[in-house]
Amino acid sequence: MKIVILKDASAVAKYSAAIFIKQIQNKADCVLGFATGSTPVDMYNELINAYKNRQVSFDQVSSFNLDEYLGLSGDHQQSYRFFMNDKLFDHIDIDLAKTTVPPGDSKNPIDACAHFERKIIECGGIDIQLLGLGRNGHIGFNEPSSSLSSRTRIKTLKQQTINDNARFFKDETFQPHLAITMGIGTILEARKIVLLATGKNKAQAIADTIQGPITAQCPASALQLHANTVIVIDELAASKLTNIDFFKHIERENQKLEKSLGL
Ligand code: GLP
Repeated sequence: MKIVILKDASAVAKYSAAIFIKQIQNKADCVLGFATGSTPVDMYNELINAYKNRQVSFDQVSSFNLDEYLGLSGDHQQSYRFFMNDKLFDHIDIDLAKTTVPPGDSKNPIDACAHFERKIIECGGIDIQLLGLGRNGHIGFNEPSSSLSSRTRIKTLKQQTINDNARFFKDETFQPHLAITMGIGTILEARKIVLLATGKNKAQAIADTIQGPITAQCPASALQLHANTVIVIDELAASKLTNIDFFKHIERENQKLEKSLGL
């Protein structure tokens, strides 16, 4: 895993947006995996700015989102489909028909999960999957104890996750306790993975992800098995790592090497 420790959330957004921009510039019809939550919003703003400055076009890009609440239709303000349209898709030239968010209002969600998996394969697989990180180490909605080779399926959310996300539902009578999520096995098939985490409340989950054992108790620790993962974090999220200086040293060396190779 490549660990990139940056000063603050704004630097994390700029660094990670640059990875996505480079991907689109290298392959205009690439397949991107998007995530929801507060963490990627600044990165999405960077992508919107890059589009407005004509640095990048999304008109041939396809996308898959990690997860969706079960029981919410795409026009519900707390649905992840609504979030993606609002925070990114409505501000760029992506073809909405090429964007896929698991259907939270499907009449047969089990079939919908199988269909979602097939669709990823039909598109040729995901080039870059973006991930946020739950405080308990979840990725997508793969809660602790999820199989590390799981596929897209319905998951029951932990109370801590429901509480963490309650801020978005404060005026609602219904907050789903179930979700459809891409599986950990599905995520690990992406050709590249970029995980973002910022702030002190992610420090323990980051330490467990990077330095802990590979365990279903910290789903993000499965990324240790992926050959092309970049973890982009700010100083606060890095604060419980024991070898911060070494990670920074490696990154400086990587940058020197990339520069000398013109990458
Ligand atoms: C939700 C999402 C995750 C996200 C997590 C963290 O549970 N399903 O994909 O990573 O929230 O969200 P935040 O970035 O708001 O901390």
